[in-house]
Amino acid sequence: MYGMINKAVKAMVQKDFGDEIWEKILAESGVPDDSFLTLRSYDDELTYALVGASAKVLELPAESILEVFGKHWVLHTATESYDNVMSATGSGFIEFLENVNSLHDRITTTFVDYRPPWFDVNRISDNEIELHYQSGREGLSPFVRGIIDGLAVRFDSEVTVTDTKSIEVDEGEHTVFHILCEAA
Ligand code: HEM
Repeated sequence: MYGMINKAVKAMVQKDFGDEIWEKILAESGVPDDSFLTLRSYDDELTYALVGASAKVLELPAESILEVFGKHWVLHTATESYDNVMSATGSGFIEFLENVNSLHDRITTTFVDYRPPWFDVNRISDNEIELHYQSGREGLSPFVRGIIDGLAVRFDSEVTVTDTKSIEVDEGEHTVFHILCEAA
């Protein structure tokens, strides 16, 4: 994945747990310390190794690290570095999710040949949606779970994920989040 992701994991750990813990995590991961350039693409294994080492050092499940990371991604990484892109994507929770594919499309000139996920929103009623997340990668749905929490804060919305189920696919992952949110 692009170094932007690795750099964001580093920023999240440093902010929430401090520099010393970050140095421990980096050493535990075995990831070279030149793997953090925003616009360079690195092997996905490096990102997974950082998450795995964070889980080990912090004694938390990897899923929890990914959730905290997802929230940090929305509230800090994306907002601080790409606020114009974020603002153009929507002014409410559901509208924003409906436009995330075009957000990722819009930045293909910056992140050449990258592999962003695909999202579909099915509106069930005024305050209920099904969010489909499809990725060529595995194990990142807790990251999306954290992103949902971050977006709820961004839009100051009451959001509850009532169910999460995975649909079997040949490669990668397809997860469906059932979400209750303020009427839109
Ligand atoms: C302007 C803000 C954003 C930027 C610059 C951005 C950029 C990126 C980049 C560079 C990757 C790595 C993919 C790769 O290297 O192949 C990525 C992955 C990802 N992005 Fe975005 N993104 C943004 C906002 C969002 C938002 C708002 C969401 C969700 C609502 C999202 C969901 C994801 C997920 C889940 C992944 C993990 C990859 C996967 O699932 O396979 N991103 N994004």
